[in-house]
Amino acid sequence: MCTVKQLHEDMLIRFIAADADLTLLWAAAVGKRPGVALRQKVVWITGASSGIGEELAYQLSASGARLVLSARRENELHRVKRKCLELSSLEDEDILVLPLDLLDRSSHREKTDAVLQHFSKIDVLVNNSGRSQRGLFLNTDIDVYSSLMELNYLGTVSITQHVLQHMIHHGDGIIATVSSIAGLVGAPLSSGYAASKHAIQGFFNTLRTELTDYPNITISTICPGPVVSQIVHNAFSEQVNKPLSNAGDQYHKMSTERCVRLILAGLSNRVKEMWIAQQPFLLVFYLWQYTPTLAWYITSLLGRKRVQNFKAGLDADTAYFTKPKAKTS
Ligand SMILES: NC(=O)c1ccc[n+]([C@@H]2O[C@H](COP(=O)([O-])OP(=O)(O)OC[C@H]3O[C@@H](n4cnc5c(N)ncnc54)[C@H](OP(=O)(O)O)[C@@H]3O)[C@@H](O)[C@H]2O)c1
Repeated sequence: MCTVKQLHEDMLIRFIAADADLTLLWAAAVGKRPGVALRQKVVWITGASSGIGEELAYQLSASGARLVLSARRENELHRVKRKCLELSSLEDEDILVLPLDLLDRSSHREKTDAVLQHFSKIDVLVNNSGRSQRGLFLNTDIDVYSSLMELNYLGTVSITQHVLQHMIHHGDGIIATVSSIAGLVGAPLSSGYAASKHAIQGFFNTLRTELTDYPNITISTICPGPVVSQIVHNAFSEQVNKPLSNAGDQYHKMSTERCVRLILAGLSNRVKEMWIAQQPFLLVFYLWQYTPTLAWYITSLLGRKRVQNFKAGLDADTAYFTKPKAKTS
């Protein structure tokens, strides 16, 4: 028979091995499968030309969802579309390539109309486009802060407003937004990025409460920790048009494949907030939510390490528990 001590040990081991919050892990284990819940749904993905959005396109197409692929680089979207067609039984007309610049808010109505003209409906909008930031506040131009808010916050809010009007008319839908662990927790070197993601969290938490008369419309925020993608390569540095000198190695992060598998489980089961991260980041989510004083202590330690890693030319999230060595190449 299992003793209380063994039970506690078992729970601790499970938590150490966990890479998402309990609700999401439950949804992934016993909830509705994406191949059932999302089959034939029309899913509009922004930022589908690389990283998490690209992988979302592959897994959603394999689940039988019809897709709208948006981002600025049209050639990359066509590449993603070709691979989606290879991976699925979808036909050419089931995937619409729709170039979109989230910063061009005056185009968002026309883009939404183009989707509706092609598919007659939008079941799921995944607001995934975004850029991150690497740089200390005192060294960073204020224009970087305004660019981050324009893209990550206002661009997302604008496209949401157009799509939500359609969903309200239709009486059903999911608006899922890829926020970040930085939407809940302060992240040194990313103060503008964290501010834009905190704004996203505040906006969508409020919108969800405004929509209580529409129980079939789900507002979902997705909060990943570090995940393999082009995010660091594309991050803002201290100046708007200056690329980051060294993105660092990304190998230590959660795989894009695993992150997206969890996102699909969350979408299939209409989970309202998803925490997706390997340890120690998952622990930080829980501490931040339930024991803020301890969270401040731990995040200060991790934050100091993050800045040290950055100054040593490494990815900011690498080597939390070892002494960072500067890159030689
Ligand atoms: N990877 C992580 O560690 C991580 C962690 C937490 C949250 N996130 C969030 O995950 C989301 C996806 O990022 P990712 O990690 O997959 O990074 P990524 O590989 O750099 O992808 C970012 C996507 O955003 C698009 N994009 C950038 N500027 C745009 C604009 N003006 N208009 C339209 N699309 C634009 C890019 O496409 P084009 O360049 O073709 O426009 C690209 O498809 C972001 O919201 C990010 O904040 C990522």
